[in-house]
Amino acid sequence: MEGRNVIVINQPLLPHQFKLLRLKDHRETAKAIQSMIVRGAGTIGATAAYGMAQAYLEGVDLDRAYRRLVETRPTAADLKHALDRVRARATSPQEAVAEAEAIADEYVERALKIAKIGLPLIPSGSRVLTHCNAGWLALVDWGSAPAPIYLAHRKGRKVFVWVSETRPRNQGANLTSWELLQEGVPHKIIADNAGGFYMRRGEVDLCIVGADRIAANGDVANKIGTYQKAVLAHENGIPFYVAAPSSTIDVACRSGDDIPIEERDEDEVHYIYGQTAGQKMARVRVSPMQASAGNPAFDVTPARYITGIITERGIVRPGEIRKQFGK
Ligand code: MRU
Repeated sequence: MEGRNVIVINQPLLPHQFKLLRLKDHRETAKAIQSMIVRGAGTIGATAAYGMAQAYLEGVDLDRAYRRLVETRPTAADLKHALDRVRARATSPQEAVAEAEAIADEYVERALKIAKIGLPLIPSGSRVLTHCNAGWLALVDWGSAPAPIYLAHRKGRKVFVWVSETRPRNQGANLTSWELLQEGVPHKIIADNAGGFYMRRGEVDLCIVGADRIAANGDVANKIGTYQKAVLAHENGIPFYVAAPSSTIDVACRSGDDIPIEERDEDEVHYIYGQTAGQKMARVRVSPMQASAGNPAFDVTPARYITGIITERGIVRPGEIRKQFGK
């Protein structure tokens, strides 16, 4: 935060351009979250916390500002968690800014713990499959699912990553691949429907994905397409891990059936956004003009397909979530 402005990485321009965007008030911050200029569970939480701090600084109606921010991305538990924290603890604009800073800093600390706790799962030679983007961009600085991978690589272990492209918005191809390139981690982008092919050929040792909300029974909502990866991993006897900070756990949701699933604009399916051969950013239509499309942003992976959930407090079995994290 700089003064009243929240400064974010403009994620839709990646990997082609790295640009920062200045969000001048809480309305612009809410819009940036909704339009996915900033995205990824933890980053959404931290950004929303700063957005709430902006509302305190602006002196606007805090209940209305809260509602505007909380409605932007309904599946991500971290969004509400962060907004509730600022509202509960801050009685002045200064306290609201300090709370938002604390939330962002805690994400970094928790992600580093997740990296260390997940490290033993990645011996040298590991071939890991991940889906969507749960790295630096998605959870302030370290990320969740890729954090143990980054740490393993920095420690000199040989690690290879299969990056699932993640239609319709291609967060794997655009963002995870970009992060892995910066870290120097060998990887290949694969079409979403190629995961099973590599699993069956014995070329995937484990899967690690992030989460947007974890229910009390261990069911996990994450980016659309996660469920089919988990079922395929189960079918092929491959461990399937979810990595997330405890702020993503929502014990008020008894099961995945209680998790609200965000339905996004169908144009995200009809159009692909990227760089042309002439190096201009462009949107290209891939479907017939008259066609309609469904666009659920997340799916629920039932607990039975999940080997373990890597949190900052340790690796827990999905069935232990209620016991370990219930109040
Ligand atoms: O719609 P997105 O791009 O915000 O969804 C992101 C994901 O599903 C990530 O896997 C999840 O948020 C974990 S990020 C630490």
